[in-house]
Amino acid sequence: TVTEDTAGFGKIILFGEHSVVYGYHAIAAPIGLSIRAQVTRREEAGSDLIIPGFDSADSADSDLPVRIAALITERLGIRGSGMRIEVFPNLPRASGLGASAALAVAIIRAMASCFDIPLTGREVSALAFECEQIVHGTPSGIDNTVATFGQPILFRKANGARDAEFSIVTAPHPIPIIIGITGVRSLTARTVSIVRTVWTKSPSRYDAIFEQIDGLALTGVGALERGDLAELGDLMNINHGLLNALQVSSPELEALVALARRSGALGAKLTGGGGGGAMIAIAEPDRTNAVATAMRLAGYTTYLTEISAATAPSA
Ligand code: PMV
Repeated sequence: TVTEDTAGFGKIILFGEHSVVYGYHAIAAPIGLSIRAQVTRREEAGSDLIIPGFDSADSADSDLPVRIAALITERLGIRGSGMRIEVFPNLPRASGLGASAALAVAIIRAMASCFDIPLTGREVSALAFECEQIVHGTPSGIDNTVATFGQPILFRKANGARDAEFSIVTAPHPIPIIIGITGVRSLTARTVSIVRTVWTKSPSRYDAIFEQIDGLALTGVGALERGDLAELGDLMNINHGLLNALQVSSPELEALVALARRSGALGAKLTGGGGGGAMIAIAEPDRTNAVATAMRLAGYTTYLTEISAATAPSA
C-alpha cells in the first residue's frame, strides 16, 4: 500500500476573468487555501472517492468529482486499478476561487505519485485542463495553471492548454488582499454562458470591453511589480465596472464591493466567475483588518491572503 499526499492551489483572479476566455490577458495568483488528496492502493479493483464536506452547488454537478477522478484514471492508464481516493477540500466550493481545478490537480498528483507515474507540471496542468472541460465547456486554462504552479501569473490562453502562455509576476513586497465570500453559490459555467450569449449577439461591442480589460491586466503587471497598491486599487475598480457591464455581477457582490470601498479599501472587484461567489479588495496593510472586520460584521466570510514573490512550490 502506497499513500501519497498532494495539493492543488486555490486562486484569485486579479484582472481579466471572462475576457481571458476570449484570448485576452489576465493576472491570477494562488491563495493560502488548497485542496489536498491522498490515494491508497488496495487489492480490490475499482476506486472509492471520499470527499467530506464537498457538497455540490446544485444536483446537476453532484457527480462531478467522480467524473473528474474517472477521467484522470483513464488518462493515467490506471483505470480499474484498486484504490481509495480521499480528498480534503480546504476551499469553498462554487465560489470563484478555482476549487474544481484545485480538486483535479490534487487528485492527479496523488494518483501519479501513488502509481509512480512521472508527470511534469505542464502535464499535470494539461490533464487538469481536460477535467475543467467537463466542468464548463470552454475554460481558459488559467485556473488549472495557477492550481498547478502555485505562482502569481500573467496568463494568455492559446488554442490548447499545452500552449497557454504564462509568465510569473513578482511583487517587491507582499500585496495584502481581502477575500469576501458572498455565500451565494454560482457555477462558472452559467456566467461564462451569459457572456457567450451577449458576445454572440454583438461581438464588436463586447470585444471592445474585453480589450479594455486586457489593457487593465497589462497595466496591472507593472503596478504589481512596483508594489503600487493605489494603482492596483484603481485598476480593480475599473475592472469591476466592466465585469458589471458584462452582466456577471450580482446584488451581493455589489454590496460587498461597496462595503469594502466604504471601509477604506483602495479598490474592490468580483473575482472568478461572478454571479455570486467571491470578491477581492486591496487596502494599505494597516487598513486590511478594518476592511475585513467591516465585511465580517455584515455577516460575510472573509479570508486574508497576500500576493507574494515566488513562495509556493512549483511543478
Ligand atoms: O469561477 P472560477 O474560479 O472557476 O474562475 C473562472 C474564470 C473565468 O474567466 C470566468 C473562466 C475561465 O475559464 O477562465
